[in-house]
Amino acid sequence: MKKHVVLYKKLSDALMQRLEEHAHVTLIEKLDDQGMQQLRAALPQAQGLLGASLKLDAALLDLAPQLEAVASVSVGVDNYDINYLSERKILLTNTPDVLTETTADTGFALILASARRVVELANLVRNGNWKKNIGPEHFGTDVHGKTLGIIGMGRIGEALAQRGHFGFGMPVIYHSNSPKPAVEARFNAQYRSLDELLQQADFVCLTLPLTPQTENLMGAEQFALMRPESIFINISRGKVVDEPALINALQQGQIRGAGLDVFVREPLEPTSPLLQLDNVVATPHMGSATFETREAMARCAVDNLLAALAGTRPANLVNPQALR
Ligand code: DGY
Repeated sequence: MKKHVVLYKKLSDALMQRLEEHAHVTLIEKLDDQGMQQLRAALPQAQGLLGASLKLDAALLDLAPQLEAVASVSVGVDNYDINYLSERKILLTNTPDVLTETTADTGFALILASARRVVELANLVRNGNWKKNIGPEHFGTDVHGKTLGIIGMGRIGEALAQRGHFGFGMPVIYHSNSPKPAVEARFNAQYRSLDELLQQADFVCLTLPLTPQTENLMGAEQFALMRPESIFINISRGKVVDEPALINALQQGQIRGAGLDVFVREPLEPTSPLLQLDNVVATPHMGSATFETREAMARCAVDNLLAALAGTRPANLVNPQALR
């Protein structure tokens, strides 16, 4: 018998067809007030959930007594109450690997855009203010040959290191839970304590997941360790950063600039002080947002969900402790 799946992210026709071959699907088009009402109404029948960008807490999960599996279309799983899911024996899956390279591309786009002031100078042209050859007041800083500091040497950190080392001749330093000899060998990377990395890197890039341990990892004390010519890049999660402390560091010239794809509150409020600063490049959580990668993530999530609902172990199981 087909199981019930509640889908809260639109899929391509091909993936929708694949899902519908195996399940009764209820699609919630948008997670606005009306969509949330529809979701709550559909949860009592749901055996599978598939989507992204929804805080799936115990209160929502309690509406879904038959739930067996949740397939997140994301690598990050900070939106989920993993302990509660596991207690309820509900499998949670994510979509690692398929987005690694694209997200690292976004990281490098932010490095280049921040260092070379791409957005600011493109706006100067667009706004009709390019009246003469630009001078030092509009110069940026080099990327090639500068020290790339990566905090969190997981898959995306490695892909960033690869770009920096092979593409831009950058010495790579990194901080993570433990040293990674294979990464050091591949990219000639060197392990540093967090404080050392902050003091030595020209680009400080956050690529680590949001967990209780990493929340507010970057605060006033950490920004104070960075050098005035260094640039801060965040492609992980906004809450890893104490945002007011970052704003203060930028306003005080403690650091040169920032390239930010993620924020404490998303979408970022148009009134955020970050948007008053020319030395901030802010993008709308677009790390994995390409046609190819988003389709690959959705495919991966569908595969994970169908495997879980068929009683087999999904490829990207986040909470093996929930296996029945
Ligand atoms: C991820 O996959 O976690 C991306 O950040 C999108 O949320």
